[in-house]
Amino acid sequence: MKLTQALRLVSVKLPTGSSVERAMSRCHTVEDLRQLAARRLPLPVMEYIDGGADGELSLANNSAAFERHRFIPVALADVSTTDTSTGFLGRRAAAPLGFAPTGYTRMVRTEGEPAVARAAAAAGLPYVLSTMATTSLEELATGPTAEAERWFQLYVWKDRARAHELVRRAAAAGYRVLEIAVDTAVPGNRLRDIHNGFTIPPRLTPASLLEIGTKPGYWMRMLRAPALEFANVSDSAGSNALTIENIGSQFDPGVTWSDLAELRAIWDGDLLLKGPISPADAVLARDLGVDGVHLSNHGGRQLDRTIAPADLINPVRRAVGDDFAIVVDSGIRHGADIATAIALGADLAMIGRPYLWALAAAGEPGVAYLADLLVGQFRRTMQLLGVASVDELRRRGMQLLDEEPVLPRPHTPGEIPGLLLPQA
Ligand SMILES: Cc1cc2nc3c(=O)[nH]c(=O)nc-3n(C[C@H](O)[C@H](O)[C@H](O)COP(=O)(O)O)c2cc1C
Repeated sequence: MKLTQALRLVSVKLPTGSSVERAMSRCHTVEDLRQLAARRLPLPVMEYIDGGADGELSLANNSAAFERHRFIPVALADVSTTDTSTGFLGRRAAAPLGFAPTGYTRMVRTEGEPAVARAAAAAGLPYVLSTMATTSLEELATGPTAEAERWFQLYVWKDRARAHELVRRAAAAGYRVLEIAVDTAVPGNRLRDIHNGFTIPPRLTPASLLEIGTKPGYWMRMLRAPALEFANVSDSAGSNALTIENIGSQFDPGVTWSDLAELRAIWDGDLLLKGPISPADAVLARDLGVDGVHLSNHGGRQLDRTIAPADLINPVRRAVGDDFAIVVDSGIRHGADIATAIALGADLAMIGRPYLWALAAAGEPGVAYLADLLVGQFRRTMQLLGVASVDELRRRGMQLLDEEPVLPRPHTPGEIPGLLLPQA
């Protein structure tokens, strides 16, 4: 074959678009975004995001618990128009997907929480701001995220007056849902951070000085940006140079159900408990006036060997009935995981690490790209499953899955009078 003939067979594509567009055009999965983030972030920051507690058994099991389900599609269903939107606690979302709270987001990329919240708002998805955010509750309540679906996650601080003050600020700033984290009596034992001598904010050490040459973008942005601070609790934290060890002093191992009753009394909006909540505790919460649970093991960062939240969805749904909101996170990496979560009985799925990777990889456009990617995967999954709406997915539920999840062991049988544990 002559060279000219050979050249006709090869289509040469020259790179076009911005560097962000070119980088995103090579990312087709959440894992692709993770790998790009790993190239951009200093190792201790990357490991802070990626790591789990102790042996990382929960972390390893979280995605596996979604992936072990197999779909049984509906044949010959008309899916020419497929609607991914859904209702949640009286509002609509473009898909049953949201952004879970993560602390110190500006450490991942200096644009931080506002960039994630803007991308979430543009995609029509809810965003949860953390107590440990590096952006204040009030800042997100102005500008492009003023009208967005904003939720606030509360760590019940030792100083209860300050915790209650945060709740009042969240109400005044128009946050609609309050999530109380109940899985942080003490901080999880994150061995990667300990091995790396990780600090918040990251400190320049001899090792990281060597790394500046390989991660110039990260360090240039960090060195030019204002110092990181815990924008909502900086006074009570006392310093913006907290270490992994002394963050623990801010958590309160003495938080109980009576604290919950107090919080319920001062918060008029929707209230969720966030943690690996058992069916029995979900029923107790419902009976105390809580509106739903956010099933989460903190992405495997707190109690290691915790049940995967995916495996709690169906038992909790059966215990609480239909009129109680269930959000789930921990391990969601594909639109098919979102479909599985809904079929198991959840109302909304959330992501943590995936959006931090996307933010590190490409800033706000990276997070927008991730939202599109996951919603696109979810839509395709729905179509191939033969369901045209989220309501139908929920209604068909377990008929679409081949496996009954294993019921978790109840806490203490008989602890809650009248609770009938669901039959397998
Ligand atoms: C870096 C990082 C920081 C986090 N910070 C918080 C936090 O401040 N408050 C909270 O309730 N959960 C926090 N989480 C947990 C997330 O809200 C969410 O439960 C978890 O990331 C979901 O699992 P996934 O990362 O596998 O998607 C954090 C998670 C990560 C990865």
